[in-house]
Amino acid sequence: MGSSFSCCDSEKVDQGLGGGNSSWRMYTYKELHAATNGFHDDNKLGEGGFGSVYWGKTTDGLQIAVKKLKAMNYKAEMEFAVEVEVLARLRHKNLLGLRGYCVGTDQRLIVYDYMPNLSLLSHLHGHFASEALLDWKTRMKIALGSAEGILYLHQEVSPHIIHRDIKASNVLLDSDFEPLVADFGFAKLIPEGVSHMTTRVKGTLGYLAPEYAMWGKVSESCDVFSYGILLLELMTGRKPIERLPGGAKRTISEWVNITINKDRFKDLADRKLKGQLNWKEFEQVMHLAIMCVQTEAEKRPTIKQVVDCLKGLMADAGNYNKVPLLMTIPSVRSYDNNTNEDRRHQPASKEFHGGGGDDQESFDYGVFSAIEEQRIIREYPYNNNNKQPPNFW
Ligand SMILES: Nc1ncnc2c1ncn2[C@@H]1O[C@H](COP(=O)(O)OP(=O)(O)O)[C@@H](O)[C@H]1O
Ligand SMILES: [Mg+2]
Repeated sequence: MGSSFSCCDSEKVDQGLGGGNSSWRMYTYKELHAATNGFHDDNKLGEGGFGSVYWGKTTDGLQIAVKKLKAMNYKAEMEFAVEVEVLARLRHKNLLGLRGYCVGTDQRLIVYDYMPNLSLLSHLHGHFASEALLDWKTRMKIALGSAEGILYLHQEVSPHIIHRDIKASNVLLDSDFEPLVADFGFAKLIPEGVSHMTTRVKGTLGYLAPEYAMWGKVSESCDVFSYGILLLELMTGRKPIERLPGGAKRTISEWVNITINKDRFKDLADRKLKGQLNWKEFEQVMHLAIMCVQTEAEKRPTIKQVVDCLKGLMADAGNYNKVPLLMTIPSVRSYDNNTNEDRRHQPASKEFHGGGGDDQESFDYGVFSAIEEQRIIREYPYNNNNKQPPNFW
């Protein structure tokens, strides 16, 4: 598709298409070069698998983010083509729309609206982390908005789209902290009537559903799994994979199980919240996240169920029996904090994003070892009070 684009020297056009709430157009390389001060390092917002992202300002005063392809090879060109093609089909308040693009003989650039609050990653673990700007209500808004963006992809656009790279750096935040899901370079269009496909594995370590990481089996449920990891991250402030002092790595799911098994449920909440949260909502959202990151794909909720559940929770304060009760995460190993072992699978020769952007440590992300361990570690503690799980799905 890339080669069929006309050159970026063409006249500006206003196609009236594209994502977000505005139109897109083609940019010239010269325009983007000028807007970003010659792609100056000071303008760099971050770096990912595709290339670098620069802040810029156009002559008409519009603030933009310009993603510049790192290398001109077949793989990168395909990602570029998929991203532009997919973006041009989308229009939703929680998806980062296309502002424009530029295709030259040896450049490929994508232009988006600049998101002043950068990515969720930058608030949880990066640039903005120390400012603790994400209060409880904002977190709930981010949880719901990003799920709504994914719901649009899974059920509302035709053909349906699986994103395949849902992660904190791909949830951008506008000036109001409304989340916008970004980065469609790995997106997969699903022909009608197809429930899953087998593909080469792409995505980011730490967020990959086991069936996808191991066997390349991709379905909407893979996005639900990645979303579940994102939700755990948003609630706890922990990274999807942490490196322990002895050098071993531990997934966020393992940490959640360990903490619950120690009966320290309140320790799950991000310390940056300083206890300023709705504990009942927190509990329910944790259950929901745990449902999403189950090893068995068919037991995960659909993203529609996730959205309904979060909406119910937020609209119906005081009535919290919205989420089925499943406490520790089935199939996730819960070795102790001090265990200095690392038996994580590292699938070879597959295409993974290292994370990059504002967090160097995200290169340490790995894949769940969930497959080998099939056991439920502990019952949900509140079952002791004869509280029955609601029949939600
Ligand atoms: N539209 C945007 N507005 C503001 N910051 C952005 C925008 N797009 C991307 N970024 C920043 O650039 C970083 C790199 O983005 P990207 O190339 O997609 O890599 P990754 O998502 O793997 O980090 C992101 O983490 C984000 O902080
Ligand atoms: Mg990204």
